[in-house]
Amino acid sequence: MLSSNLNKKERNDEKNNENKTSENTTIYGTRYFCQPIPKFEIPEDGMPSKTAYRLIHDELNLDGNPNLNLASFVTTWMEEEADKLIAENNGKNFIDNDEYPQTGIIHGRVVNMLAKLFNAPEEENYLGTSTIGSSEAIMLALLAHKWKWRENREDKGIKDNNNPNIVIGADVHVVWEKFAKYFDVELRLVPMEEDCYILTAEKVKKHIDENTIAVGVVLGTTFTGQIDEIEKINELLENIKIEKGLDIPIHVDAASGGFVIPFINPEFKWDFRLSHVRSINVSGHKYGLVYPGVGWLIFKNEKYLSKDLIFNVNYLGGELPTFSLNFSKGSSMVLAQYYNLLRLGMKGYKQIMENLMETAQYLQYRLDALGIFDCLEGKLKLPIITIKLKKEFEKYGSVFGISRKLRENGWIIPAYTLPPNAENMAVLRIVIKENFSRTMADLLIKRMIEIKYYFKAKADNKDLSKKSYPQINIY
Ligand SMILES: Cc1ncc(COP(=O)(O)O)c(C=O)c1O
Repeated sequence: MLSSNLNKKERNDEKNNENKTSENTTIYGTRYFCQPIPKFEIPEDGMPSKTAYRLIHDELNLDGNPNLNLASFVTTWMEEEADKLIAENNGKNFIDNDEYPQTGIIHGRVVNMLAKLFNAPEEENYLGTSTIGSSEAIMLALLAHKWKWRENREDKGIKDNNNPNIVIGADVHVVWEKFAKYFDVELRLVPMEEDCYILTAEKVKKHIDENTIAVGVVLGTTFTGQIDEIEKINELLENIKIEKGLDIPIHVDAASGGFVIPFINPEFKWDFRLSHVRSINVSGHKYGLVYPGVGWLIFKNEKYLSKDLIFNVNYLGGELPTFSLNFSKGSSMVLAQYYNLLRLGMKGYKQIMENLMETAQYLQYRLDALGIFDCLEGKLKLPIITIKLKKEFEKYGSVFGISRKLRENGWIIPAYTLPPNAENMAVLRIVIKENFSRTMADLLIKRMIEIKYYFKAKADNKDLSKKSYPQINIY
């Protein structure tokens, strides 16, 4: 068989190469670089640390360049001092609060700062925790609301507590669907419309009832970066409370907007200033400007988190209350979050977010001027641009082809269709992050201009093989 012949050949190669050491050559002259890398079994013998590093490092060159990744919201750059702090604390398990009490204290400080940033009233006893990201935070928040809903009904003597539901727009992140499935809650997804991609109070009204454990609203949706009608939904729930006695909480998914809006538009009411907003999640690793691995969940008042969901463990020394889906996790990103809060302060975050908005608005203006795209949002509220091909160009190519074409130059910009009932619309989404400068925006536009030529030439029925047109094909 071909595979056994190959194995034999590999074994011979291994023998022949055994004497190749690094004494008289570079690392690439050693035997490890002309042998297959172990893939299926742990190798009997290890290898020098520099070799293992170089092998993996080189293989990872095949990954996309994180700095050209305009698909992901996640931070790809931090300052040297933050990198140092992260490296120094990589060995600390966050859960070992008894062993690393100061890390726990710093965690508490971040919770304080975020509760304040989200306008938790002084008189309320807010409560919060770090998580691995917004997904864990959302699941924990919704679990808390499910428990409270049941407790409230039990207090009223209601026995039937088997059909809880959550109401949320169809443009929701997959974690909401996961929560519904994993924790057996009915998911009431409010469909989008051809020309409205957010959750409105009017739409919510039709879906809520006495079994609604929470209404989910999004500050910066994953699909379009738009913002649901949070204040109006709050008003609706206030009215329902007065009319029907139902006290339905709002959970705000502020994964991407929670670290942007407070700095660029502090007057905008979306947070604990609204009476029904009881919990908020935010991704520290998005516009909190920390590398992947940290999110935050804040409750307006500790009373919204049932004691039943808090576990106390004593096997790490001391009594440790935990509210999380996992147990062990690194401390570094929590500390890196604190670093950013100290280092940047309100002014530093504001400056960065203003720059991001300026770059995003500039890029949107330039994209609009190409004449082949429509922008979904007239005035951007977050540094997220969503565009679609103008109708008249759809017959010559698609956003999927454009996305592939951009990838050839390293740009990572995803194309996808919107959720029901706007699934006929396919878009490109560009997330502007801290290290994306005006110069980078210009370089992206340069590439887009070539793409525009392709569409314009097609529309004008011009011969694309003529030299005057860039050699480009949208497939
Ligand atoms: C609106 C929204 N909610 C939740 C999430 C999940 O966040 P995380 O990746 O931090 O778990 C995302 C991720 O993009 C998001 O955009």
